[in-house]
Amino acid sequence: MLKITFLGHACFLLDDGTTKILTDPFLTGNSQAAARADQIEADYILVSHGHDDHVGDTEMIAKRTGAKVICPIELGGALFAPKGVEFLPGNIGGTARLPFGSVKMVTAIHGSGVPGALACGFVVRMGGKAVYFAGDTALTMEMMLLKDEKLDVALLPIGDVFTMGPDDAVRAVKMMEPALTIPMHFNTFPMVAQTGNEFAAKVEAAGFACKVLTPGESVEL
Ligand code: NI
Ligand code: MN
Repeated sequence: MLKITFLGHACFLLDDGTTKILTDPFLTGNSQAAARADQIEADYILVSHGHDDHVGDTEMIAKRTGAKVICPIELGGALFAPKGVEFLPGNIGGTARLPFGSVKMVTAIHGSGVPGALACGFVVRMGGKAVYFAGDTALTMEMMLLKDEKLDVALLPIGDVFTMGPDDAVRAVKMMEPALTIPMHFNTFPMVAQTGNEFAAKVEAAGFACKVLTPGESVEL
């Protein structure tokens, strides 16, 4: 079992009933946030890159909850080590085996916000499911490789301007063939305005399942 709750922008809570994993926890200052940084619980926090709308409240949540941050090594060295935040370093292509399952860092084509660091996406295996959290990324041929991961769900940005837009995200779905797609990184601010239901209709027209979650809404796999 895996419960996925959308908390707004690129922040999701993955919960298998034992372990809670938070992604890119931009809550404070996010008008769409469905949780508060001083109340959310987490065991791990995945940080895909160093932009403010992804690092967000990582430091505060990690220090309050004791959650371990998982991020590319150069990112952690630059952003988290100086603040005394414990992090589990990795890099693109590598898999960390952890008590709940595993976390693999995969390619994202995007600025990392930290010189010398790469942005990444994550393939998380927990609760018997495989989840791809794309972070911020362009459409890339690297996504062909994710088809072999037999994804149960793909969390994809559709906001355009800074990441893939809806049409490229549909092409990503066709490459990866996930059982379910959930869009993210849109409507948080005017530059990334999109209509989630239009994206869902395009994904479904291509023969794949899509669910648009409003912030605070969950899906159980
Ligand atoms: Ni970014
Ligand atoms: Mn972003």
